[in-house]
Formats: sequence, C-alpha cells, structure tokens
Amino acid sequence: MTAVHALILAAGRGTRMHSDLPKVLHTVGGQPMLAHVLRAAAALDAPTHLVLGHGADAVQAWLARPDAGVATPQAIAMQAEQLGTAHAVQQALPGVPDDARVVILYGDVPLIGADLLQALAQAADGALALVTATLPDPSGYGRILRNAAGQVTGIVEHKDANDAQRAITEINTGLLAAPAGALKRWIAQVRSDNANREYYLTDVVALAVADGMLVRTVSAPQPDEVEGVNDRVQLARAERLYQQRQATRLMRAGVQLADPARFDLRGELIAGRDVFIDVGVIIEGRVELADGVRVGAYTLLKDVRLGRGSVVQAHCVLEGLAAGADCRIGPFARVRPDSTFADEVHIGNFVEVKKGALGHGTKAGHLAYIGDATVGADVNISAGVITCNYDGANKHQTVIGDGAFIGTDTQLVAPVTIGERAFIAAGSTITREVPADALAVCRARDQKTIANWKRPSKKKS
Ligand code: UD1
Ligand code: CA
Repeated sequence: MTAVHALILAAGRGTRMHSDLPKVLHTVGGQPMLAHVLRAAAALDAPTHLVLGHGADAVQAWLARPDAGVATPQAIAMQAEQLGTAHAVQQALPGVPDDARVVILYGDVPLIGADLLQALAQAADGALALVTATLPDPSGYGRILRNAAGQVTGIVEHKDANDAQRAITEINTGLLAAPAGALKRWIAQVRSDNANREYYLTDVVALAVADGMLVRTVSAPQPDEVEGVNDRVQLARAERLYQQRQATRLMRAGVQLADPARFDLRGELIAGRDVFIDVGVIIEGRVELADGVRVGAYTLLKDVRLGRGSVVQAHCVLEGLAAGADCRIGPFARVRPDSTFADEVHIGNFVEVKKGALGHGTKAGHLAYIGDATVGADVNISAGVITCNYDGANKHQTVIGDGAFIGTDTQLVAPVTIGERAFIAAGSTITREVPADALAVCRARDQKTIANWKRPSKKKS
C-alpha cells in the first residue's frame, strides 16, 4: 500500500462546549480526547499531521507535558482562522506528498479504534473512502446522500439539510481517506456557500463524484465508536461508552465489578484473579491489584499497588501507596503519596498516612495522623496519635521501632525516635528520644480530683 499520512483536525472553537478549555483537551477516561485520537492514528503507523488553531497554545502545552502519554505528531499545521474543516485540511496538505494516501480524523471523535482506521485506509485505494454509521438519532451530523442505485452522491450538513434529508439516518462520521493528490485538487474547489459560511470538508464527496472518482463507504460496525463530541451531553455519553468498554474488558479478564455502570477507570488497572470492586470506585493513574484484593464502595485509588488478599473498605482515598499482602484499610482512611505498607498492616477510620512506611502487622485502628514516619513491625498506634512533623518551616521524621505501643492521644514531636518495644502512656507529648523497652509518660500535670464538684447550671433569664 502507498504511504499513509494521518491528519487530525483539532482547530475548531468547540462553541457548543461553552468552555475556556479547547474542546479536544476535554477528557474521556481521564485523558484528553486528542490523546485517544493520536493513539488511534499512531496505530496506523503513519506520519501524523495535527491541525491546531483555537486554543493551540494550551494544546501544545499539553503535548509537551511528560505525562501526556502520546507520541508528538510529526507535523503541526496552524489554522489561524477557523473557516471550516476543508480549510483546516488545506493547512496541513502541503506537508503530504501527492502520491500518499491521507486519512482524516477529527479530534472530537475520540472512541475511534485502529481496526476501523485500517479498513478506511485500505478502502481509499484509488477511491474516496468514508466511514458512515446509522444512528437512531442522527441530528447534528452530516447526512449521506445516495442515488437510486445506492451510490453516494454527496453529504449534506444538518444545518443545510431539508426535512427529507434530515430523515436520513446514515451519517458522516467525519473519518475520510483519499489519495492526497486528488484531495488537494478537490479541497481547492470547496466553497463556503452554506448555512455556516464555512468551507466544508464534506463537499469533497460531491466533487469526487463529479471527478468520476469512486466513492466507497466503510460502515462502522459499532456506531458508538464514531460518535462525535460537540457538547457536554455528548462528552458524558462518550465517557460512559468508554467506561463500559473498559468494564467489559476487565470483567472478561476476571475482575468482578459489582456494577459496571458505576465504575470509573481513568488510567490503567492491572488486576490479578478474583479481584472484587464494589460500586462507585474510581481508579486513576496506574493501579495494580493482586489476587483476591477487594475494594469497597466509593473509594478512590490513584497510583496504588495492593498485595494479595488486601481489603480496602468503603470511602477511602488512597494515593501513591504500595501495600503488601493481607492489609486492611478503611473505611474512611486516607493515604497520601510516597507511602508503603508491609504485609498485614491495618489502618482504620480517620487515619491519615503521608510519606509513611508501616512495618509488618502494624496497626492504627482509628483517628491518627502518621506523616513523614518510619514505623517498624507490630507497632500499635492508638486513637488520637499525631506525628507533629512540621515546625512551621520544615518537615521532620518520626522513627518508631518494632513492637512499640503508642498510647491514645499522644503527640510525637519530630524529629523523634521511639525505641523497640517502648511504651508511651496515653496523653503524652514526646519531644525526646525514648529508648527501647522504656515507658515514657509525659503529661502536663498530674490529675487533680475534687470531690462533690458542682457542675455549672444554666442561668435563669
Ligand atoms: C463534522 C462534519 C459532519 C459530521 C461530523 C461528525 C463537516 C463540515 N461536518 O460536523 O458531516 O457528521 O463532523 O462528528 O466536516 N475543525 C477545525 N477547523 C475548523 C473547523 C473544525 O480544525 O475550521 C475541527 C474541529 O476541531 C473538530 C472537527 O474539525 O475536531 C469537526 O468540526 P466540528 O465543527 O465539530 O464539525 P461538526 O459540526 O461536528
Ligand atoms: Ca464535531
């Protein structure tokens, strides 16, 4: 096959989004729509030409980000004024050799897959090829016009269509492929005499027919794949379709989702056998769940690794955690980045860990803050324990040895070290090292007990 060049249109204003963000940067599954389209184009293994215009700076800033996760396009063409899709194509065509085949993608058709693109590229062998779909609600899309013999004669945009044409349910998906030389010729002839005063790419179809060129249609096997996003209703729909696909893929691979309609993966999930995910779980970044992990309802996991058999209960927010096997986390636990748990760690409700390393079997059942801390194995951290890690200017470390017991409502003023098996009495404020096997009690004053104390009574008004 002759060389294929992919051309992605992403210069439009996206007026119907009513947003300051360029439309193609609105996300589906946590990634800009443009990222999905660039990835589909990359699967064609063709040089990619990206047309930018409205919001080009923001798009380029995103492309330059190390976490963009896409290959930079070979060429970026600028469309200073958005005069329509044909005009957009015209900006990039000079960079495409005449003997190549051009495949055009729209930055706002994000769910497109590689197989369909491949079929489209193949169909453009000496022909103009279009991907069409039949949608139950075709409104907003260009309609495919055919003659009595069923041959395509043109495309009419929704705004320009009469009632009979609007009744047509076969629509233009925007995906189009053609020999570059011929496309250049047609594009130069497109005029803007339509409802929008724009140069429509879709007009090349009638021009190709007039030119005696064969027009082939490739029908999208799954119309969902080619739905466009012009407004936030369609964006939400694209998101759901994308999530449904991911949920189906995960369930087929053995992950049990309590309800695939209430599951959101905005990144990558690697899951072992018999993983169970309850409703409302959101997964971001890269998450690895080993065999038998269970994740409770309404929990957010971002860049988390959980070892075999670990259980996260409902309503946890865990970010940047690498945990071992058989840990029990939550409900209502919060872990912030750079935290590690060895096996069998337990943190319960209203426990926050930040930059904390917790050793094997260590427990913090409730209401504690463990920040910038290295905690050994089998440590008991009682309710109300706080590592005072911040002096107002700098962060300091707390180190707790194996087997230590930190009593209720203790403040550990960092930097501070608690020795192995040390016992800190409840209510202590610890500012100095406690050696191994010692008891430390540090309370502001001894208890005073007044007998027959009269409790204050309410004043009568
Ligand atoms: C377009 C098609 C329509 C098709 C629909 C499929 C045209 C004239 N119409 O309509 O037949 O059914 O897509 O989703 O092509 N763009 C530019 N520069 C411009 C204008 C647009 O780069 O001057 C880009 C946009 O960023 C967008 C794409 O082209 O990614 C499509 O533009 P949009 O205005 O959304 O076209 P639709 O009205 O959806
Ligand atoms: Ca569109």
